[in-house]
Amino acid sequence: MKILVINGPCINMLGIREPEIYGTEGYQELLDLIERTAEEEGLDIECFQSNHEGAIVDKIQEAYGRFDGIVINPAAYTHTSIAILDALKAVAIPAVEVHISDVDSREDFRRISYAGMACEKRIAGQGIDGYRQALLYLKESL
Ligand code: DQA
Repeated sequence: MKILVINGPCINMLGIREPEIYGTEGYQELLDLIERTAEEEGLDIECFQSNHEGAIVDKIQEAYGRFDGIVINPAAYTHTSIAILDALKAVAIPAVEVHISDVDSREDFRRISYAGMACEKRIAGQGIDGYRQALLYLKESL
């Protein structure tokens, strides 16, 4: 089973950015957790991170016919990007939305999720473990 993990802007700065909100573990630790989960669960996983909306749209389009599932944390684009929503709808690959923080208990503008409208599940507020949970969910459901 092939899963694409997509992270949006500033997820590469985990551990540095607002550690009181996003924790002290860095992006490399997130990649290590995903790799460990892939090995344990027998999943074939590719990780992609970009600060650019169009690059994320391109990556979602390229996933068509190549991946069975998508785990996506669009970061700030969650709350603004109809382009990412449309790309997820276009490829119609089962997707799970992940947020490290509990977006619903933060500013009002974080309660809107465009990307989430094309995702079958949302995991938020679980720290980086949310990615492991999303992978387990996709493995079970696909
Ligand atoms: C985030 C939440 C977003 O509101 C924020 O813009 C991010 C990260 C999260 O993982 O908690 O960059 O997606």
